Amino acid sequence: MDRKFNRTLVTCALPYANGPVHIGHLAGVYVPADIYVRYLRMKGEDVLFICGSDEHGVPITIKAKKQGCTPQDIVDKYHAIIKKSFYGLGINFDIYSRTSSETHAKNASAFFRKLYDEGKFIEKESEQYYDEEAKTFLADRYITGTCPKCGAEGAYGDQCEKCGSTLSPDELINPKSALSGSIPVKKKTKHWYLPLDKYEPWLKEWILDGHKEWRSNVYGQCKSWIDGGLQPRAVSRDLDWGVPVPVEGAEGKVLYVWFDAPIGYISNTQELLPQSWEKWWKSEDTKLVHFIGKDNIVFHCIVFPSMLKAEGSYILPDNVPANEFLNLEGDKISTSRNWAVWLNEYLEEFPGQEDVLRYVLCANAPETKDNDFTWKDFQARNNSELVAIFGNFVNRAVVLTHKYFGGKVPADLRHEPVDTEVLAQIPEFKKAIEENLENYKFREALKEAMNIARLGNKYLTDTEPWKVAKTDMDRTASILNVSLQICAALAVAFEPFLPFSAEKLRKILNVGIAAGYDHRTGEQGAVPTNLFRDGEAAALHTGAEPEGLCLTWAAFGQPELLPAGHQLGEAVLLFSKIEDSVIEAQVEKLKASKAANEAAAKAEEELSVAPQKPECSFEDFEKMDIRTATVLEAERVPKTDKLLKLTIDTGIDRRTIVSGIAEYYTPEQMLGQQICILANLAPRKIRGIESKGMILMARQSDGKMRFITPQEILANGAEIG
Ligand code: MF3
Ligand code: ZN
Repeated sequence: MDRKFNRTLVTCALPYANGPVHIGHLAGVYVPADIYVRYLRMKGEDVLFICGSDEHGVPITIKAKKQGCTPQDIVDKYHAIIKKSFYGLGINFDIYSRTSSETHAKNASAFFRKLYDEGKFIEKESEQYYDEEAKTFLADRYITGTCPKCGAEGAYGDQCEKCGSTLSPDELINPKSALSGSIPVKKKTKHWYLPLDKYEPWLKEWILDGHKEWRSNVYGQCKSWIDGGLQPRAVSRDLDWGVPVPVEGAEGKVLYVWFDAPIGYISNTQELLPQSWEKWWKSEDTKLVHFIGKDNIVFHCIVFPSMLKAEGSYILPDNVPANEFLNLEGDKISTSRNWAVWLNEYLEEFPGQEDVLRYVLCANAPETKDNDFTWKDFQARNNSELVAIFGNFVNRAVVLTHKYFGGKVPADLRHEPVDTEVLAQIPEFKKAIEENLENYKFREALKEAMNIARLGNKYLTDTEPWKVAKTDMDRTASILNVSLQICAALAVAFEPFLPFSAEKLRKILNVGIAAGYDHRTGEQGAVPTNLFRDGEAAALHTGAEPEGLCLTWAAFGQPELLPAGHQLGEAVLLFSKIEDSVIEAQVEKLKASKAANEAAAKAEEELSVAPQKPECSFEDFEKMDIRTATVLEAERVPKTDKLLKLTIDTGIDRRTIVSGIAEYYTPEQMLGQQICILANLAPRKIRGIESKGMILMARQSDGKMRFITPQEILANGAEIG
């Protein structure tokens, strides 16, 4: 650890509790963070690992409306699923709490109030869309209309999902409220803004000059935001779900979700350590690291630090190692399209194979560019790396020891130069693992750990103890001793990456592991590394007890971790082969969910109906003269695709109506038809032809049209109403 720090506070982006966690989240944020924390714990450093659910924001209220339940119902459901699945994958947060907790409401509220009292916000009135029927201001997501960029219907006030453009509600053509379908009006409302522009000089100095070591994707995004000029950002919203704005006259307003959520990191720390939390957040010797995905960079590098700076008593992140995105089978992962591999489902479908997912996601982590997850690659990495190299090596070494030496580590009786050479490489790999992990290069670090397994596998293949055993037991003993030392090195090296397999391996080797740090006692080197503090979670995953022979990170790299005579445990397989059928089933499942989704989306589109128009009075209706008529003549209007010129008998007179129905009816089809018309519509000239009245048509949302006809032929001129 850098000299100036005495402890490390690691946070992971708080996932929105409106859906389960998927592999994109894991590869981008949670797996690397967990590796980092486990590594630091192994080194005996003082670490705290904080996360929780992000339970506010508009999408959660929308989901609740759709499902006919409360937002609290939604977050309760997903909070439980997410929490259980994280611990199921061995992501051992010290606490996994939630932003709907009481502690958080108090804390976020107090944070806002302090900035408010100190005049750190600006108050501004602005015009926002308001739904007069639902009597509420409309969040951007609650306004739909025609996309100004691509013309698609049903674009949202913040984004068009057809063409992907970022929009503002003002740009939408024909905006409508998604709540009532009514046309929203503009209404004045007051909000509080954090004047980010004021923090610009400081941000320049702190990030652009002070943190040149940040990942280039992170640094680059910060630079382009800062160079583009920062604007004041609203920190409140007109919404009824969230932390209420603690100011008089702010009824119906809550803190903007991106204001309260990062404060959740602090709240969750308080909840866990009510007495000592400040040491983690207010001490200059604490190193704060935020693990996030790239869509969160601006909030964690610019907005949240500005909030902390404005507050004045908090430390700032030392690093924000944000990852790029993981795609799935060549396509963007999407919760709404159900194109994802969900962690909770994986854990059910692949019991005992938690580490395979951890391995694949780390080996393929999108650290510097977007990457693709495919089931084929998942299978290949399991079968030809975990099984064929790591598992195969350990199994050969342990089985041969049981076969020739009764499962006791044999003495190193005839050491040869090849042994020395092999063992000498381990400290080098260890150094490479450490350097990579300390620089947030998890893929590289994992590769180096895997190189130890490769080294062992090759050593066994080269030395062939099963052949040597026929003639030379002393040499066989040495080879197996060296091999088992490599196994022991692996049992330490893989603890951060593959904790389940490392634990399994330690059982095979009959060793424990120690090097944690217990906050309650301040003791070091005497607690299981799997120790974590969330009571509920502790029951889900218990680490090996540090009894008997214990391996440590400090000792990893030394040539003799296992003394001669040490009794091994039973030889079991670390990994197992994944068959083609398993992979094919997963690919089929993905395809099926995609097809189901497309069908559902299509059905929804077909069902979509125009919202009701504003109310009209009976007098308004009475003004309209609607009656039956018959088509006497019909012809196309020359040089147009859509227009028919119709001569009709209205019972009152014979007249001409020009109608835009030529795409649906030929002149022949119209001849002799009884139709309904609006007779007293003011005459209009269309293509030089005087049109008197309008033919009534029923129009479906996809544009299909049919004329209206009485159920039975009536006299022309029969009144309708
Ligand atoms: N819920 C956000 C997301 O999934 C992340 C919130 S991170 C925090 O993108 F800073 F708000 F905690
Ligand atoms: Zn569009």
